[in-house]
Amino acid sequence: MQALFAFVDSMCRRYNIDESHGLKHAKGTVVRAQAILNTLQDVTDTERRIAIYSAALHDTCDHKYTDVKEASLMIDAWLEGAVGWPFEERKALLAIITSMSYSMLKKMNPVAGLDPRYPDHGKWSRAYHVARSADVLESYIVARCVLYNQHIHPDWTEDQHWTRAEELFKGRVFQYRHERWLLIPEAVRQSIQLEEEATRCLKERDMTWEEPLLESIQTPK
Ligand SMILES: [Fe+2]
Repeated sequence: MQALFAFVDSMCRRYNIDESHGLKHAKGTVVRAQAILNTLQDVTDTERRIAIYSAALHDTCDHKYTDVKEASLMIDAWLEGAVGWPFEERKALLAIITSMSYSMLKKMNPVAGLDPRYPDHGKWSRAYHVARSADVLESYIVARCVLYNQHIHPDWTEDQHWTRAEELFKGRVFQYRHERWLLIPEAVRQSIQLEEEATRCLKERDMTWEEPLLESIQTPK
């Protein structure tokens, strides 16, 4: 796990990925994916490994920050060289992390009110939804939203940032459950708690972002 996060950190530095999508977010996504996996039945070691590594690596090839092809090649080379993953698993992971972002899925699903359609990941579909849902849950962290906008719009005032965050949460984040972007019961459960906390943070303009509890991560075999 240490090597995984060291690699994520190195990619964040290389691509100037800001804190909102950096190492802390990668760790948070892993902790949430782990909690979801722990509620599922018959998870194989490979399925767990693909879900957890996808959760950790997903933003290291995000189109907002990287040349996706170049970053994907680097991830693939690392998984092969440093971790010794077989081709099929590397292919599955790269397919997952390049097709799980909300903005991309939204383009695939332009009509509101319908159940979202997702790319077909075959036998790795559940791993895909674990990693994807964990990332969706991370977007309930208000501080991440404000930090990202500060990165993109450093000229905005404090007031403009908080107004934008309120709009984004009301118009998008707080709709995730109703629009059925979260379906796994544990992810739905987490989102209810997270929504309460986000509502408080928006009201009090509070940038609290708890450090993910890494000791709760189980190292995948
Ligand atoms: Fe993310």
